[in-house]
Amino acid sequence: MTDIAEDGRTWLLSGPGSSYALHLTDAGELLHLHWGPRIALADAEALAVRPLPGHRAFESPLDGREEYPVEGGPRFVRPALSVRTPERRGTEWAFEAYDTEGAELRLRFRDAGLVITLHYRMRGDVVERWVRLDNRGEAHVELLRADAATWTLPDREGWRLSQLHGRWAAESRLTSAPLTYGDKVIGSRRGHTGHQHLPWVALDSDATEERGEVYGCALGWSGSWRIAVAQLPDARVQITGGAGYDDSGLLMLAPGESYTSPVFAGLWNDGGFGGASRAWHAYQRAYVIPDADRDRPVLFNSWEATHFDIAQERQTALARRAAAIGVELFVVDDGWFGARTSDRAGLGDWTPNPDRFPQGLKPLADQVHALGMQFGIWVEPEMVNPDSELYRAHPDWVQYQTGRKRTEMRHQLVLNLAREDVQEYLWERLDALLAGAPIDYVKWDFNRCFTDAGWPGEPYPQRLWVDHVRALYALVDRLRAAHPGVAFESCSGGGGRIDLGIVSRTDQVWTSDNTDPLDRLAIQHGFSQIHPARIMAAWVTDSPNTQLNGRATSLRFRFVSSMAGVLGVGGDLTEWSEEELAEARRWVDLYKEIRPVVQHGELYRLRPPEGGLSAVQYLRGDETVVLAWLQAQRFGEPVPALRLRGLDPSASYECRETGEIHRGAVLLHHGLHAGLRGDLDATVLRLRRI
Ligand code: DGJ
Repeated sequence: MTDIAEDGRTWLLSGPGSSYALHLTDAGELLHLHWGPRIALADAEALAVRPLPGHRAFESPLDGREEYPVEGGPRFVRPALSVRTPERRGTEWAFEAYDTEGAELRLRFRDAGLVITLHYRMRGDVVERWVRLDNRGEAHVELLRADAATWTLPDREGWRLSQLHGRWAAESRLTSAPLTYGDKVIGSRRGHTGHQHLPWVALDSDATEERGEVYGCALGWSGSWRIAVAQLPDARVQITGGAGYDDSGLLMLAPGESYTSPVFAGLWNDGGFGGASRAWHAYQRAYVIPDADRDRPVLFNSWEATHFDIAQERQTALARRAAAIGVELFVVDDGWFGARTSDRAGLGDWTPNPDRFPQGLKPLADQVHALGMQFGIWVEPEMVNPDSELYRAHPDWVQYQTGRKRTEMRHQLVLNLAREDVQEYLWERLDALLAGAPIDYVKWDFNRCFTDAGWPGEPYPQRLWVDHVRALYALVDRLRAAHPGVAFESCSGGGGRIDLGIVSRTDQVWTSDNTDPLDRLAIQHGFSQIHPARIMAAWVTDSPNTQLNGRATSLRFRFVSSMAGVLGVGGDLTEWSEEELAEARRWVDLYKEIRPVVQHGELYRLRPPEGGLSAVQYLRGDETVVLAWLQAQRFGEPVPALRLRGLDPSASYECRETGEIHRGAVLLHHGLHAGLRGDLDATVLRLRRI
């Protein structure tokens, strides 16, 4: 809902529990007024008449107060917009008009031929912001930097910044530290979202898991990006973010061209970090994730079981066992195509390997379907091995710089997806693949960063960074439209491409290549700060964990860890004993029972993964599910009870596992003993309101 003051210069956007307000001064400055609890238009108007601090020689009253700081004039903050024309650099804009459409507010400004439109859209309590730039002039306009939005926080005693950092196989680690003066910058200059930071920050001054104000911002962009959190000299805090890492050039807009930034979404919540996460999850389920109300199936993935050693008989043997333990979707990972018998060859040649699949993929897909499962395949369309038919035919289709070496990582190069011929080739190959065999699922991988992002012959090669992502989005969108029954998974060597942009066009994401069930708890804890269990794929693999750290864990611990998201199995089932397969079947059956609550319920993080006991709770209607893990039990240190959340204190709840009846008030205030003991123990508890 948008309220607008009579003079048309103060705007108030409100969701069910929060409001956002901005104001255009008589001098034409667009100032931020409010972001926080729900207020009335009269409150926003009262804020609008508060005087700005006076001008001083060395400070600007605009700094820390503007909605979208442009470059130039009395401003010393990091600009959200930096443009250059043949005559000058910077922006001196004038307000033209505003309009609204449903929940969206648009404010239009102009600087000579450049039209700048700020977009705001309230979705629940999430404010989506983005900018559109139209070159209506006669000359080219270079966008050096064009952030999606700048967020302004209210004055508080001291802010703390939380972020999700990591690296390959150790993604989305939550870390928090007090904010100090200056800029804290996170991002990626790798061409993809990156394992190093999820594009999310949260700021609080005194919040706990379930109490206090939390401000969160998340960017929907799957290329290079930057979020800068600035504490200004007067302690005011602003957060600005958008596509691209540097300020050295994003796009050149020819006359008539335009640029629309990605969405930078913001959320205020006063229910602590847990409340903020639940609001982010609800937003993604309602507005971002495709078909979010559908359950995601239990999948099997061949990667850890067979690596590149893909043969139809072995896959069929795995498929039989997968079906027998209740798997619903069988995915053949890397190695089914071209000359792909190792990571040295074949990427780019998206036709089934003739030795391995002489009749194509259809016979295997049919077998999998006959076993009652869906069939999926792995692809990595944006890449090419130099040892491939594609590269031999089109060595100029990759990103490269004239006269420089082409840096190989994992023996592969990055295709220049900004080229239309490359886009058409990929569309034609992938469309034919999906039309040629009954494929229900595509795992879309991306296994290296950009290094030589050149485009010989192109007058403005920097555009490749933005255009690669646009082409990726367009290709996925086109494939989804042409093959509406096919679901997509976003993967980038695990969690290297997880952001609201890719989440809006894929059905789930591969959280991490780290499938160790204990390490995974920390990764999942961080992931859950922003994204819901509904998209968080998690596989049970072999023990000891041969892929990474060699840790041995029980099937129980592995399953309960993976049941916190979209359960999958990735172990070599041909090596599992009959007892293990029977136990796996029981866990898969149990998961299917709790799946609606896990995938669509509200998440409460009861205890973080550090320390001995950790637990999460999902709540949906009358059903609640607790997953708990005990890392190590120390003698003389009793395992604490788990205080549940979100229950009705006046109701009673029956535990399906023990048959015990618990009073809601007791569960909320005194807790539930999960019955864990020893090292690396885990359990699932189902409670139903009676
Ligand atoms: C990286 C992915 O994260 C793995 O799951 C697997 O698909 C490999 N790539 C295959 O090359």
